[in-house]
Amino acid sequence: MKITAILLAAGQGTRMKSNLPKVLHAVAGKPMIWHALEAIKQSTTEKPVVVVGHGADEVTKYLGDSAQTVLQSPQLGTGHAVMQAESLLKDKTNLVVVCYADMPLLRGETLQKLVELQKSNTGALSMLTVVADDPRGFGRILRKEDGSVQAIVEDYVATPEQKLIKELNVGGYCFDAKWLWDALKRIPKNPQKGEYYLTDVIELAVQDGLPVQAMVMDDMQETIGVNTRVHLAEVETAMRARINQGHMLNGVTILDPASTYIEASVVIGKDTVIMPNTYIHGMTEMGEANVIGPNSIIRDTEIGDRCKILASVTEGAVIENDVDIGPFARLRKGAHLGNHVHMGNFGEVKDSYLAEGVKMGHFSYIGNAQIGANTNIGAGTITCNYDGAKKHLTEIGADVFIGSDTMLVAPLKIGARSRTGAGAIVTKNVPEDTLVVGMPARAIKKLVNK
Ligand code: UD1
Ligand code: CA
Repeated sequence: MKITAILLAAGQGTRMKSNLPKVLHAVAGKPMIWHALEAIKQSTTEKPVVVVGHGADEVTKYLGDSAQTVLQSPQLGTGHAVMQAESLLKDKTNLVVVCYADMPLLRGETLQKLVELQKSNTGALSMLTVVADDPRGFGRILRKEDGSVQAIVEDYVATPEQKLIKELNVGGYCFDAKWLWDALKRIPKNPQKGEYYLTDVIELAVQDGLPVQAMVMDDMQETIGVNTRVHLAEVETAMRARINQGHMLNGVTILDPASTYIEASVVIGKDTVIMPNTYIHGMTEMGEANVIGPNSIIRDTEIGDRCKILASVTEGAVIENDVDIGPFARLRKGAHLGNHVHMGNFGEVKDSYLAEGVKMGHFSYIGNAQIGANTNIGAGTITCNYDGAKKHLTEIGADVFIGSDTMLVAPLKIGARSRTGAGAIVTKNVPEDTLVVGMPARAIKKLVNK
């Protein structure tokens, strides 16, 4: 059986007051629409169709080949949006799942259950509803005396009595495809707004004598649609709690979930401890028994096992095992720290490899460098890698001792087991097993300034 999803993402999102299309606003570091597509994947068999409109170019570009897209222009309501997908899907799918791209908390499991319900339903569709005290402007579910679903009435046209109804339309549906294409053509134009509401097909099914199944959810949170930035923050908090809970159930200790910000794509191994006020972003993956934070920002970083990262910032770095970083260290793109590296306070490493056991305890800048195993980088060492036009490489062998405040003027090679004296300014290659000292600054030539 072929099951295809249509995801509605064409609406303007006026209430967001944003230049960015609503569905590209991030929740836990990923656009809302990414979350919707992840949930859809679990319940469908075919590539989804995304209906785009407002900000179509940006949304289409983001989607790449993760979905087919169809343009809805002008945007005449949710029913009209689904109609646009008919040409792509007619006779190509048995079931159609429709959901809205502004509901990032809706779980894949929930859609899966909805699809299962429709598979066993002889009627035209199955839909998600929720019973809640706060109606949030959702459509209300009208039921007949026998308890079966009769219609959905939108909030702004509901009578005072209808407004009291606590069963709400979540905005997730699974349709028999053949019936859907025909029913869409029968949706009446809404007299107030001149739009075609998908919610009106429920009444059409009832008129056709086809049973409508409702799957009543108990988690209101999952159903939150983002219409304003207030909702966006609400969803962010809920998603954060959900992500943190997932990690905790996988064996990660999180001391203070409320101040721990882990993005959706992050992988963390068991027995790792995340201390408060820590941000773990992007494509970060870490192994087991690490201690991260407090006060750390980790982005796109690969971390092994048993590392400690205290009050530090890492981005685009690779950190092997048993590495100890911080407080107040910064790893930038291309920093690679081998096993047992120690990097203390106020160090910065960029585009450099520090082999196993390298120690740089205090205030150093290492950029465009290769540093051999067990070398000691004294306090205040700087690789002078930039001559104003180009970056140059510094290569330091194993077991070298770089004295405090050494300036390493690149391009430069320092042989294994050599030493530099405190305050040395090294401008020429140093062979192995050699001690170099001194070289204070002195005039060499007159600069020709233009
Ligand atoms: C909709 C439902 C309402 C439900 C609520 C749940 C309708 C008519 N109403 O209301 O019953 O309780 O969701 O959150 O369906 N869109 C298009 N093209 C359009 C209009 C909208 O693609 O022409 C898309 C939007 O981008 C959005 C989704 O459809 O992702 C829902 O539209 P929105 O305006 O947010 O509907 P609600 O008023 O929230
Ligand atoms: Ca909405």
